[in-house]
Amino acid sequence: MAELDDPVRDLSERIAAATRICVLTGAGMSAESGIATFRDALTGLWSRFDPAQLASEEGFRADPQLVWDWYAERREGVRAAQPNAGHLALGDFAKRRPGVLTLVSQNVDDLHQRAGNADTIRLHGDILADRWLEPCRCGRRRDPHEATPGRPPRCPDCGNLVRPGVVWFGEALPEGALEAAERAARAADVMLVVGTSGAVWPAAGLAATARRGGAFVAIVNPHASEIDGAAHVLVPGTAAQVLPRLFG
Ligand code: OAD
Repeated sequence: MAELDDPVRDLSERIAAATRICVLTGAGMSAESGIATFRDALTGLWSRFDPAQLASEEGFRADPQLVWDWYAERREGVRAAQPNAGHLALGDFAKRRPGVLTLVSQNVDDLHQRAGNADTIRLHGDILADRWLEPCRCGRRRDPHEATPGRPPRCPDCGNLVRPGVVWFGEALPEGALEAAERAARAADVMLVVGTSGAVWPAAGLAATARRGGAFVAIVNPHASEIDGAAHVLVPGTAAQVLPRLFG
């Protein structure tokens, strides 16, 4: 681990000089927009709710209404939230230096997109998008928006349920997303990891992938994470405080 007098200044110089930057974000990225993280000790969702019930297909099948309502409430929180200074710094950087930044996010909110990073690679899906629980048995291939309203909505013909478009535990990532993220990590000069505990794989492996590929790896997080060992430097601060200084 490098001992630097001013890790932020050193890192901002590396970012200014880099031609390929990969940024991986987690729930901490949106914390200052008012969206709860998962694993923070008192405020994290998984300290109050059971992920086996609320973030698995088995949990949804066991009580679809409970799970649907939980996501409906979170969806309202996402719609009401605004990108923070960290999201805006990344969006502004992408506009000023097109083609340099690949943004990879575990977040299911749309705050990176609203801040200007429309092509963010979303590893864990999109809470604002619904999809069918399984292929409709009636074979009509309707859009989930055409489902009969309910909690959750249902196919009017076969009763198939609509579910939130997020990735639950044990499920595959959206097709092509991990491959694109790994390519960006391998090619990066600088890999920046922001606001993730590093507890969920395969996203957690991207920092080490980048380091093996020769990138300078930095982690922005006010607390320790499980992947700190993959970093050359740790920047102890929050996304909204640190990112404007790095990408300004
Ligand atoms: P976690 O809740 O596991 O971790 C959030 C991290 O953000 C912690 O390390 C905090 O220290 C840090 N943090 C908190 N506030 C911050 C701030 N203002 N600025 C920067 N960092 C801050 O969230 P993730 O690592 O994203 O899965 O969790 C990974 C996945 O687990 C999520 O994508 C979700 C969850 O189950 C799905 O939704 C599929």
